[in-house]
Amino acid sequence: MSTTSTLLQFRLNGEPVSTQVEAYETLLEVTRTRCGLVGARESCGQGLCGCCAIVVNGETVTGCIFPAMHAEGCDVATIEGVAQDGKLDAVQQAFIDCGAFQCGFCTSGFILMSRQLLHRNPDPTDAEIRNYLAGNLCRCGAYPEILAAVKLAGERMRAVRSQAAPTDPLAR
Ligand code: FES
Ligand code: FES
Repeated sequence: MSTTSTLLQFRLNGEPVSTQVEAYETLLEVTRTRCGLVGARESCGQGLCGCCAIVVNGETVTGCIFPAMHAEGCDVATIEGVAQDGKLDAVQQAFIDCGAFQCGFCTSGFILMSRQLLHRNPDPTDAEIRNYLAGNLCRCGAYPEILAAVKLAGERMRAVRSQAAPTDPLAR
């Protein structure tokens, strides 16, 4: 073991992780190589493309430049933690239904950013979607389908929310 390694402890998709890391290691390296979760990909390696998106304490970060040790004590989530009980979430399903990928290399990053957008803005305009996802690049050029998928996921999520809302105003 290197003398420069440090114990890193955090929660990954709800499960506790405890591992030795080097000061130079990124969170992407730790989640992929030490934890075996390979859904986040390294493409540019410079924080420019969004393929390596990982969620840290509710905020999406570029895992390829995020120092692993900064995740100490944090809640970390990757694309592997999005589906629940074997069921894809609304954004994942919409990406499939709209064919919003070709090689899929960029897809986990787009999905995590789209989920964050729809959480903060449940009914974004096309311009708002494009602007929010401007940091995510797709070399296959699946942008029209990605836009359609985010809109479809938003529609479905709003429909679920409206059905769940109590219809009796006295019950609110
Ligand atoms: S691989 Fe991290 S932003 Fe491109
Ligand atoms: S689907 Fe290939 S890079 Fe986006």
